[in-house]
Amino acid sequence: MSRRPLVAGNWKMFKTRAEARAFAETLAENLAQADGVDLAICPPFTSIDVVATVLQGTGVGVFGQTGHENENGAHTGEVSMGMLVDAGASGVLLGHSERRADCAETDQALARKVPAALVAGLTPVLCVGESEFERDSGSTKAILDVQVREGLSGVPKDRLGDVVVAYEPIWAIGTGKSARPEIAQEAHAWIREELRSLAGDTADSMRILYGGSVKPETAAELMALPDVDGALVGGAALDALSLLAIAAAARP
Ligand code: 13P
Repeated sequence: MSRRPLVAGNWKMFKTRAEARAFAETLAENLAQADGVDLAICPPFTSIDVVATVLQGTGVGVFGQTGHENENGAHTGEVSMGMLVDAGASGVLLGHSERRADCAETDQALARKVPAALVAGLTPVLCVGESEFERDSGSTKAILDVQVREGLSGVPKDRLGDVVVAYEPIWAIGTGKSARPEIAQEAHAWIREELRSLAGDTADSMRILYGGSVKPETAAELMALPDVDGALVGGAALDALSLLAIAAAARP
């Protein structure tokens, strides 16, 4: 089964609107380097509209970094899925380990957020991954199974194929220590097996991205793995040409 790769750049809490515009302009000028690969940028809320405006018509997605499950209400500091769409977003990251740690984004909340994103017309990217302690204690597969199963528990079976999953081992994020290829492939195969138990053969068409210290120099080896269908990139996505080099490495 051939899956079109997706390479998404998560800016986290970086870039002013002017910096976001400059990045998007450079990206738009050099898009040919990423032919055959879907691209998405995940800016902070404040820059979604700027990036979406510059990249309009290019096919590059603009994703939120989180979203609230309710349409509106008394939730100070939150942004709903519909508001993300209104700002120009076409997708949303959900359950990033930094949100799980900093903002107590739980599997139970994700069970409501993922379907809310789909209802609003966004592509949800459900992020999962184990800590170093969990890996060392041999519970990686159990942790991933729970995060995938619980996070997707509110999604109707016929919509599971519209979800993207990102495997981001916490010990590999921002450490410069990317997972070795055999470790990444093993985890991605476990995730696909869990997806198969939920979605049947649809699991074969679902994209599973790898995230955690992906760099242009290491991307090709990871992107060539059978169950790795793209990347979720942090630090190396702050520069447009660096992100494009990673996307080029993911070309089929
Ligand atoms: P780094 O690429 O900086 O390790 O970040 C990965 C990540 O958290 C992307 O969501």
